[in-house]
Amino acid sequence: MEPDNQSAEPMPTILVVDDDFFNLSVFKQCLTPDYEILTATSGELTLQLANGAPKPDLILLDVMMPGMDGYETLSHLKTNPHTQDIPVIFVTGLSSDIDEERGLQLGAADYIYKPYHLSILLARIRTQLELKKARDWLKNQNAFLEAELERRHQENQQVHLQLLQSEKLAAIGQLAAGIAHEINNPIGFVNSNLNTLNAYLCDIFTVLDADDALIAGSPITPDALQKLLELKQQKNIDYLRSDIPELIAESQEGLSRVRNIIQDLKDFSHAKSNDWELSDLHKGIDLTLNIICNELKYHCTVHKEYGDIPKIVCLPSQLNQVFMNLLINAAQAIETKGDITIRTGHNAKEVWVEISDNGKGIDPEHLTHLFEPFFTTKPIGKGTGLGLSISQNIVCKHGGRIEVSSKVGLGSTFQVWLPIRRE
Ligand SMILES: Nc1ncnc2c1ncn2[C@@H]1O[C@H](COP(=O)(O)OP(=O)(O)OP(=O)(O)O)[C@@H](O)[C@H]1O
Ligand SMILES: [Mg+2]
Repeated sequence: MEPDNQSAEPMPTILVVDDDFFNLSVFKQCLTPDYEILTATSGELTLQLANGAPKPDLILLDVMMPGMDGYETLSHLKTNPHTQDIPVIFVTGLSSDIDEERGLQLGAADYIYKPYHLSILLARIRTQLELKKARDWLKNQNAFLEAELERRHQENQQVHLQLLQSEKLAAIGQLAAGIAHEINNPIGFVNSNLNTLNAYLCDIFTVLDADDALIAGSPITPDALQKLLELKQQKNIDYLRSDIPELIAESQEGLSRVRNIIQDLKDFSHAKSNDWELSDLHKGIDLTLNIICNELKYHCTVHKEYGDIPKIVCLPSQLNQVFMNLLINAAQAIETKGDITIRTGHNAKEVWVEISDNGKGIDPEHLTHLFEPFFTTKPIGKGTGLGLSISQNIVCKHGGRIEVSSKVGLGSTFQVWLPIRRE
């Protein structure tokens, strides 16, 4: 809610400070009709009243007082956060420029010499009070706007998080749909093979029944034997002999594909994801490729140029996530058809994994922002802009780095460097 400026305003409070009681009573008489008046006869009492309630809106301060003088009193007022915003007008018999300059430098709002014209004093008081009111109003507005900004920021953050959540869920949904498709294929043909095998078995049993009947009705006549042979021919038993092992082999192959997909999924996210272990990066890349093959196979040809790299101590499932992000980015950069090349190699201290694509490339202006969280050029629903920032965090955790080079229209290369030995 915006601050309410309409409510009836209380009379401003003025603290008048003078060690001369006569001066104080004159001030009081002149100001009482329009202002609440507080009085003090020393610097110490001034500080006490300024800190209390009601807080004065303005202080008329004498300079020459026994004990703490006006200048010192003003310095204390200005260093106290509670009193520093109270405007102070010096009203003094000291009329040299040096005194006035000193007072203004210490932060006085105005400087009036005694004896003063009452109308001038009142005008200057009014000006300072109006300025103070305007400043207070601005301060309130500022505080209100800041609170509003913070509230909207929180709201945005909330909406953003929800959006992120739903986008990530959509992405997981897509990946899950791809995997379901991969599993569905072999299950489909294993099922159809089982149906065929069932029909084959019926035929085989029919022939076996006929065989049993022939034996039971012995002696076997040439006619009955001929009938059995004809039945065998009709049921195509010789073909079944060769087809059945093929159907079984094909089904076994299908089921082992399903088993491999499930094993890859398990390995990809295996429970010990926070355990450092000696691991073969090629294995990790291969099983990542298996998991995302559905995203790649229709428009990308993957080429592997693996070098002879040593195993490294790493968090394998987290590195798999890095490879997955880079490979999916590469696939998404290829608009129609293209190639993704995975190269690996090493020097004395580091291994590198390079993922290149001949996709659309990266705008040079974007290169410096790629690893910022939420930086994406993809439409809502397709990219959250987190892939590279998460990947960089993981690689940094390994003491490594990711390098990028790219040419618009020609493609991009991301190179992940990882230390062979952990520091
Ligand atoms: N191989 C690449 N080719 C072209 N642009 C790329 C490539 N890799 C990354 N980018 C650019 O970098 C941006 C950030 O990539 P990042 O992986 O962090 O997020 P994203 O792919 O947009 O979304 P997310 O990975 O969270 O689904 C991408 O939007 C894209 O503009
Ligand atoms: Mg990405």
